[in-house]
Amino acid sequence: MVVIFGASGDLTARKLIPAVYNLAYDNLLPADFFLVGFGRKAIPDDEFRKMAGDAIKEFSRRELNQDIWGRLAPNTSYVAGGYDEKPAFDRLAQHLSEIEKKVGREVQPLFYISTPPSVFAPILKNLGASGLAAKYRGQAHQAKVVIEKPFGRDLESAQALNGTIRSVLDEPQVYRIDHYLGKETVQDLLVQRFANSIFEPLWNRNFISSVQITVAEEGGVGSRGGYYEQSGCLRDMIQNHTMQLLALTAMEPPVSLDPEAIRDEKVKLLKAIQPLALGPGGDVARAQYVAGMTGGKSVPGYLQEEGINPQSATETYAALRLSIHNWRWQGVPFYLRSGKRLARRVSEIAINFKRPPGTLFAEKGARFDLAANTLSFQIQPDEGLSLILNTKIPGLETRTQPVKMSFRYATTFGSNTPEAYERLVLDAMIGDGTLFIRGDETEASWRICTPILQSWAAAGRNGMDTYPAGSWGPKSAEELVTKNGHAWRQP
Ligand code: BG6
Repeated sequence: MVVIFGASGDLTARKLIPAVYNLAYDNLLPADFFLVGFGRKAIPDDEFRKMAGDAIKEFSRRELNQDIWGRLAPNTSYVAGGYDEKPAFDRLAQHLSEIEKKVGREVQPLFYISTPPSVFAPILKNLGASGLAAKYRGQAHQAKVVIEKPFGRDLESAQALNGTIRSVLDEPQVYRIDHYLGKETVQDLLVQRFANSIFEPLWNRNFISSVQITVAEEGGVGSRGGYYEQSGCLRDMIQNHTMQLLALTAMEPPVSLDPEAIRDEKVKLLKAIQPLALGPGGDVARAQYVAGMTGGKSVPGYLQEEGINPQSATETYAALRLSIHNWRWQGVPFYLRSGKRLARRVSEIAINFKRPPGTLFAEKGARFDLAANTLSFQIQPDEGLSLILNTKIPGLETRTQPVKMSFRYATTFGSNTPEAYERLVLDAMIGDGTLFIRGDETEASWRICTPILQSWAAAGRNGMDTYPAGSWGPKSAEELVTKNGHAWRQP
């Protein structure tokens, strides 16, 4: 049974209901599966079912199949109530007991908190107070709770939220979501690294000169201006998605595929990141987009977007240069960047190997173009893996040219892969926490990001760079990499 808090919200319609539907389609839900929506608005069951059906029609990767929906719809219901009202949770508990009576056994509830973060704590407390969290605690069918992002807005608030969680739930009951971990290509990162013997011997400071992680978006803030103003790129993308990509790329091999073994290694890696130099000429850059062109259209700057303070000091782009203080990565810069309204939507991890000495091919004074080998994991779109190699140009002279060797998932496996949320909802239901973030992990990541946020808050708009919408970002981000003799890739 899945209970969604925030049932009339955007994420529920776009991702959660289509995910549940596709799991039903793939026969991955129990025959007596129940979906319960909970929210502040009073919505009759019938109307909630209609909303769910419409969401499937509009957002599911598969069309609505009447047989499958016909089985799911009668088991779909709705409970209205305030998130900070204990009686509403008592009503929910009563509703769940009635479902259990119908089924004739105790059912395992998965509570999915998909609300604004301001009500995370009241929901958790009321799950505790109403006995819903404890009812199943310590039993094989114990309740599980998925918590959407953002998980806190700095280290202190993340610690406070972890404290509230611990007062109500045991850590194995908690599933902190980062939907990037549900992406196929992100899961494949572990397989590529540890199921192929060619990478691990090279995966260190002796062979790698730098690593670049890019999560670029073409879209602007759209209708989410109110949320984004309070968040900004560092909180919205860097602290969670790019840090997770970094941890999976750079961590040591885990001792097993056990969720705790993997999360232990990610935490160790995050803890080895050195404090950043802040201020001018330091390790961070931030910027806002100004008017420009994207997809052949003129678009306004961030300060002119709807719901944005014209004096806003919220960054829409952030880049970081990180050093990892361990045996494997000493001296290898890790560059992270993310932003809205960039040239195109692309997420990738690029491993730049050291340049070949090149002396052999330079000898004859001919024109050689020896590139550094780069291995890149294309997270999205056009998911795949590519490697840049130097190759001889066919002909009577010896001349070289970098070429790209590519593998594309869609070509090899077809393109109808499950959405991240399908995998994540299923994993939470079956109790596999591998693709979720542990409490200490989120705190380790906030420990890196919080001093940056504090220095930006103190500086206000001082030091805020700009970039035209549709470009690859601000000049200050270029300087972050050129200082070490590197350059950002144009993915
Ligand atoms: C979300 C952010 O976590 O990720 C959004 O809040 C962002 O601002 C989104 O657009 C990007 O996700 P994806 O899967 O489209 O790359």
